[in-house]
Amino acid sequence: MSNPDQNPAPTAATITIRANGPLLVQGDVKVINSAGEEIDRGGRVAFCRCGLSKNKPFCDASHKAAGFTAE
Ligand code: FES
Repeated sequence: MSNPDQNPAPTAATITIRANGPLLVQGDVKVINSAGEEIDRGGRVAFCRCGLSKNKPFCDASHKAAGFTAE
């Protein structure tokens, strides 16, 4: 049985799809990688959705130079 103290209920966050850009997550955000390690925490995180970032899963603005388009 899981300990609820180890898995607190998530707080509200907002995910905004930026036109021609990343997914912007705003709220109490903690990013965990596939190894279970926390790789970022904060109130505002941008995730790549163009596939070109050299710092995945985060956006590094490569979408701008590539002319990525998506609504
Ligand atoms: S969306 Fe910004 S680098 Fe991919």
